[in-house]
Amino acid sequence: MNRIVTLDEFIIHRQKDFPYASGELTGLLRDIGVAAKIVNREVNKAGLVNILGVEGNAENASGDTVQKLDIYANEKLIDCLKNSGECCGIASEENEDIIQIPAVESKNAKYVVAFDPLDGSSNIDVNVSVGTIFGIYRRISDPEGPCTVDDFLQKGVKLVAAGYVIYGTSTILVYTTGRGVNGFTLDPSIGEFCLSHRDIKIPDRGNYYSVNQGYYLKFDVEMRRYIDYCSDLNLRLRYIGSMVSDIHRSLLQGGIFLYPNTRKYPKGKLRLIYECNPLAFVVEQAGGKAITCQLERILDLEPKELHERSTIVIGSPVMVDEMKNFIERYSVPAYSTQE
Ligand code: AHG
Ligand code: MN
Ligand code: MN
Repeated sequence: MNRIVTLDEFIIHRQKDFPYASGELTGLLRDIGVAAKIVNREVNKAGLVNILGVEGNAENASGDTVQKLDIYANEKLIDCLKNSGECCGIASEENEDIIQIPAVESKNAKYVVAFDPLDGSSNIDVNVSVGTIFGIYRRISDPEGPCTVDDFLQKGVKLVAAGYVIYGTSTILVYTTGRGVNGFTLDPSIGEFCLSHRDIKIPDRGNYYSVNQGYYLKFDVEMRRYIDYCSDLNLRLRYIGSMVSDIHRSLLQGGIFLYPNTRKYPKGKLRLIYECNPLAFVVEQAGGKAITCQLERILDLEPKELHERSTIVIGSPVMVDEMKNFIERYSVPAYSTQE
């Protein structure tokens, strides 16, 4: 039997790949692993401790209804990162503004972390998979002062690390530092993430497509034609309502995930900094592609504001290219203007 490799061992081993690494990024990744275990514990007992359901009629900074578990996950991640000392700033989907961590607590750390603490929160009440998404940037602001919003408004190509956690049938943490993608499954008996998916490579194509087909009539013509094409090919439609889970399936088995512009969300629904960029980095590192419905590479987009949204087409490279052909062939210029 192969020896078990824990996430901590793996991260420390990989630190040697970065000749000038100070251990700060290593520490930060380990702290995110700890936060993931804490969130996992709460997700698993959500049905038992009355933290299900919507928190009043609260809406988050992006205008979505907030679930109690979102708030819990958000608080835990913020606590872990604040205490880690390896991070000088945080941006969360659930917070309007960035959180600056004072230099004394952060030891003048040079990284900032952006995250979606709980992705797929509409799934919580019904015991379906949810996830956490994170991206780590090196700060660009003056290291002598507090971090600034510009540290987070960097293009996705500037990510130093990114990943996600799925709280599903098993809890899996997948991350990349730009040298391939590896996945770790939480072994609850020892409380450790153990290497289970080494050097993940996304298949060139797959049998699955993920899109909210309920919006079919609200999609632009190229999207409707592509969905018809998937249906003609007898591809299997899977849509969980948590992009982490849908993209994880594509990563392992091949497939495509799409969230285009709709009448309600003319620029797309998903958040560039908290969702699209980290997942695009992971998928590209595994050999996949991620573009917008306007055919820009997600990682090349220049964010203008923290809670900016983007359309996304992400997954197996051949399938993304096919979708690109549909857009080139059928799209009418600019965003949908239908109401
Ligand atoms: P979140 O729970 O963080 O707001 O994210 C949910 C996102 C994404 O994960 C999912 O694929 C999508 O919203 C679902 O949206 P629709 O219900 O509009 O399809
Ligand atoms: Mn989300
Ligand atoms: Mn969320």
